[in-house]
Amino acid sequence: MARLTNPQVSLITTDGFAGYELIDSGVGRKLERFGDIVVDRPEPQALWQRATSDQRWDNAHAVFASNDDEEKGKWRLLRDVPEQWPVPVGPATMLCRLASFRHLGLFPEQMPHWDWMVRRIKDIKAKKSEPVRVLNLFAYTGAASLIAAAAGAEVTHVDASKKAVTWAKENQAASSLQGTKVRWILDDAKKFTGREVRRGRQYDIILVDPPKFGRGPNNETWDLFDSIGPMLTDCRALLAEDPAALVMTVYAIRASTIAFAQLVNEALEGRGGNLDFGELAIEEREGGRLVPTSLFARWFSGMTTD
Ligand SMILES: C[S@@+](CC[C@H](N)C(=O)[O-])C[C@H]1O[C@@H](n2cnc3c(N)ncnc32)[C@H](O)[C@@H]1O
Repeated sequence: MARLTNPQVSLITTDGFAGYELIDSGVGRKLERFGDIVVDRPEPQALWQRATSDQRWDNAHAVFASNDDEEKGKWRLLRDVPEQWPVPVGPATMLCRLASFRHLGLFPEQMPHWDWMVRRIKDIKAKKSEPVRVLNLFAYTGAASLIAAAAGAEVTHVDASKKAVTWAKENQAASSLQGTKVRWILDDAKKFTGREVRRGRQYDIILVDPPKFGRGPNNETWDLFDSIGPMLTDCRALLAEDPAALVMTVYAIRASTIAFAQLVNEALEGRGGNLDFGELAIEEREGGRLVPTSLFARWFSGMTTD
């Protein structure tokens, strides 16, 4: 029976990067800077008091106003905001927008995973002569795809939303990374992995960042709790011989990190290596308090934990 050999919960945090900072949080909201634009968004887990002045919050460019449901609501502009604006994210330039469900097209808490992925691309490059292949499932606007491609990997980017894939291609152009190798796939992630298993395809690194509920282009249903187990079985079949790596992140759900760690551990039973699991959080640039965002489990066939 697969058993967690190192049941230690990790906390991975970022205090932002040139294009992003968490300025303050509290009373169910967070104040963040994406490039030149400051936004005030709902954050139900920010149970504490705000640390900065009301004036700082009042100076935000846009506020996502919502009642009970943190995702349903509308952006209210307090200052001019362009339709889209550039946000530097490592080697990529992400075009951010005030999008539905309080999103902006970028999940900055993922930055430590993207850095980790680049280190794994280097490790794998050092051991294999063929190009490193990265499969990015639920790839959204493509930050991870572009960062992997900039690091020299051949990337397969899969998302069910035409709008998201178009946006990701625009981000590739904005990043001047058109020359890099990204295969854009508009498909249901489950169908795609099933097909790739039947074709005997292999990937050195797999990223899985699924929503709680989603729909494929032909209305296929994605339900995290029903679908993630079979998908990880596919991922196991798709993972290349060592060295190989897998990163899974889940968010906006009621669950423990232990549940997902145990699932990944079971799916990869017998492959050895190192499984790290826990929570991702963003650290306020000034106040240092942590805003939790998601759960993760990540595995590398080597023993490195860096
Ligand atoms: C919030 S995003 C993941 C974030 C992304 N990995 C990042 O870091 O930028 C979730 C994505 O899953 C996609 N999605 C939802 N259901 C899907 C399905 N059945 N197959 C493929 N993609 C799906 C959505 O279109 C959305 O782009």
